[in-house]
Amino acid sequence: MAQLRVAIAGATGYTGEELLRLLLHHPHVHLTYLAASAKWDRPTPVSVVHPRFARQTDLSIEALDPATLAASCDVAFLALPHGTSMGLMPALRDRIKVIDLSGDFRLQDPALYPRWYQFEHAQPKLLSGADVAYGLTEYYRDAIRSARLIANPGCYATSILLAVLPLFQAKLVAEGRFLVDAKSGLSGAGRKADTSLLFTEMTENLRAYKVNQHQHMPEVLQEVSRLTGQHAKMGFVPQILPVTRGLISTIYVKVKASTEAIERAYQAAYPAQAAPFVRVRPGVLPQLRDVVETNFCDIGFVYDPDLEYLIVGSALDNLTKGAAGQAIQNLNVMSGWPETTGLL
Ligand SMILES: NC(=O)c1ccc[n+]([C@@H]2O[C@H](COP(=O)([O-])OP(=O)(O)OC[C@H]3O[C@@H](n4cnc5c(N)ncnc54)[C@H](OP(=O)(O)O)[C@@H]3O)[C@@H](O)[C@H]2O)c1
Repeated sequence: MAQLRVAIAGATGYTGEELLRLLLHHPHVHLTYLAASAKWDRPTPVSVVHPRFARQTDLSIEALDPATLAASCDVAFLALPHGTSMGLMPALRDRIKVIDLSGDFRLQDPALYPRWYQFEHAQPKLLSGADVAYGLTEYYRDAIRSARLIANPGCYATSILLAVLPLFQAKLVAEGRFLVDAKSGLSGAGRKADTSLLFTEMTENLRAYKVNQHQHMPEVLQEVSRLTGQHAKMGFVPQILPVTRGLISTIYVKVKASTEAIERAYQAAYPAQAAPFVRVRPGVLPQLRDVVETNFCDIGFVYDPDLEYLIVGSALDNLTKGAAGQAIQNLNVMSGWPETTGLL
């Protein structure tokens, strides 16, 4: 089989590094171009930037040039800060397929961007384009197969949507409301310097941020509505956990049903053959250690019929199923390869 030419923009960052880790061993991918910001005006060997990849590739990191990117590959992964990818689309759009890991194409309504991302969208028509797919693989395989631009979901959004969509689909969520208490490792904030994320600030600490203000909220609500036709309301407490990678969302939902009905909803949504990366374990809440450096999302739940509250845990690695792994899962679907290629 001919190798697909693939490039990574943002290869010096955390999700870019995870893409490299996985793509270097992908059997059908040939990496052609690795780029980052203008400060890399002198090409620098990957082994200097990420010594772990020494002897695995001779590629260098270069300052991103959109025309070079478009000419270098069939598919580009954009692992760039929010607000950067949309500016590249005029140069890339008609030439290559793009899998964007940022939030630039996740929301269909351009009016939401100023509030949740603090910018006006530069390509508003693209947001609802026929060949743009939201890359929550388990729910959008058909759209992903024919897409030219994939908006890879947010890490919190992936963990929350995979946990709540089966409940909405089975019409089990009372009044459409749920609360999410989520904890993410520090790599979720990216590789940028930030005093509040120093080891000394974060070790032996746990703290909430952007309570009910996090940009993944409109993404979750949009997708519950698109996929189930229901209007959801969510409360969201994201927190930073002093570990490098991994994320757990604990979700509290008022449900009037039997434990068996809840179990049936999850088993129907994620049969092992059809959803190889979602593992459902009734009666047990998941732990980080089982998902870190994997593309799995582990979902477990505990239900008390007297209380009528369901507690769901959804764990994944923010850099893998929450970013690079799901992006490669989408590449596999787009390319007609088995979904697990290079990931299991
Ligand atoms: N971290 C996560 O867990 C996670 C999960 C899901 C989605 N995401 C999303 O994925 C994207 C990347 O996140 P990250 O955590 O990998 O961020 P990061 O560690 O901060 O990396 C950002 C990358 O973008 C490059 N870059 C910055 N500005 C650029 C520009 N103007 N032109 C070209 N390259 C530029 C940086 O290169 P330099 O070395 O030159 O600065 C770096 O390679 C973000 O949109 C983020 O929201 C992240």
